[in-house]
Amino acid sequence: MSDAAKYKSYSQFEEFLHNFYSLSQTARIHSDNHKLVIAGVEKFSESIKSCMDDEQLTFKISNDQLYVDDEKLSYNRTTKNLFDNIIRFFDARSLEGVRLLEAVKHASAKEILTFISLLDKSEQKPEPLTWLTNSLAVENIQWVELVKKSERPQHDQESSYRDKAERRERARKDYTYVKASLEEVAQKIKDQKSEVGIRKTVRVVQNMVTNLIEDDEVYAAISTLRVFDDYTFTHSANVATLSMCIGRRINLSRRNLVSLGICALFHDLGKIEIPNEVLHKKDKLDKSELKLIQEHSLNSARLLLKLKASTDSKARILVPMFEHHLKYDLSGYPHADWKRPLTLFGKIISIADKYDTLTSSRAYRKFLLSPDRALGYMFDRSGKDFDPTLIKVFINILGVYPVGTLLRLDTDELALVVSSPSREFSKRPLVCVLTKENDGSYKKKEIINLDERDTETGEYVRQIIETYHPANLGIQPVQHIFSN
Ligand SMILES: [Fe+2]
Ligand SMILES: [Fe+2]
Repeated sequence: MSDAAKYKSYSQFEEFLHNFYSLSQTARIHSDNHKLVIAGVEKFSESIKSCMDDEQLTFKISNDQLYVDDEKLSYNRTTKNLFDNIIRFFDARSLEGVRLLEAVKHASAKEILTFISLLDKSEQKPEPLTWLTNSLAVENIQWVELVKKSERPQHDQESSYRDKAERRERARKDYTYVKASLEEVAQKIKDQKSEVGIRKTVRVVQNMVTNLIEDDEVYAAISTLRVFDDYTFTHSANVATLSMCIGRRINLSRRNLVSLGICALFHDLGKIEIPNEVLHKKDKLDKSELKLIQEHSLNSARLLLKLKASTDSKARILVPMFEHHLKYDLSGYPHADWKRPLTLFGKIISIADKYDTLTSSRAYRKFLLSPDRALGYMFDRSGKDFDPTLIKVFINILGVYPVGTLLRLDTDELALVVSSPSREFSKRPLVCVLTKENDGSYKKKEIINLDERDTETGEYVRQIIETYHPANLGIQPVQHIFSN
């Protein structure tokens, strides 16, 4: 196959790698002002721009596979040679990969060639990585980070309680920033500002994704941060966080997790056009009010189109926004005249959305489901309202008794679930006992493991008698879960 034909059959990421590798080869044999080198730099720069819609672009090797932004590239007849060459190229330099930062888009041709040339020369050095790191610093090239071979995500099995508390605090900050950035965007739309950008939102979601990849457990508990009478933006921040937790468990790439997070965060954007008296009406809605409510998913998609963002990013999140009330069997709203199944993002967001709606303690709701019952209700609707596999993934993340569920134990203790059993314990959660003070408030006492068994009888020491929504007893889980 000719080089041109081969080039045409590459995907966008493969094209980027092809341009990188051919530039490194061309620059090795020709001078900087040779026309092939000049054209090579141009192609390489162009492919960086078309691949980088995140603020960074990472290409690396893991288990002899090539990844661009966590997207595994398929190894086939067309790509085999290119991939083998790149893997050898990195191996010879003790590199796992290279991360390009956004500033690379403004790098001059001279800078790019310096980087390519240093990368090439590093192979000859006794310690290629150290030499390359120092040389890039000397040349003041700040738009590249080297991914070392040992750089692997740290799993937290042996991590201390202090680490966990730090991660919880970090999660709380991420969550606050995500919520605040949504509020900012919504306010700008309300103020009818033209050209409302989402750059900041993308950045905070990217940060959250980075931390969520490291430890999704603290993020799965995030909806307990909700306080009473704080609904509008909290709901969207919860839906975004829970959706990203589902996405993480089904191994979506970092890039897709960011898109999913943005999409979930903006899923109810259309509600800003609904008057509050309709949105929070306690009585039955009349026909025109119901129509107004049911149009919000379509309006979310319509408002998204007006935001300042790349067409590519908008295209990825437009349809799932429209789909979030459509239901798995398409019986929801707005009525869709097609039989096309929901997109993956649409299926994920509708699960996170329903769970948060069922468990949110909005003042005007009379009936509050405890988190475990909400999950039970949703499980019963699997195959109709929800994707059966994704519902199982979701229950697996939250555990049978999700964090924030209030339990009455057979010891007559009242206990709040503070940790999901999905990882740390076999089946039963970790809870903190709450005692009622004279002023009616609840105080956090010892933490106990409901998995604990009597050494003689083998029976569980404590049994769960009843579950409640914490709001039914005036308890705000955030005070007990996200505090030490
Ligand atoms: Fe909605
Ligand atoms: Fe919603």
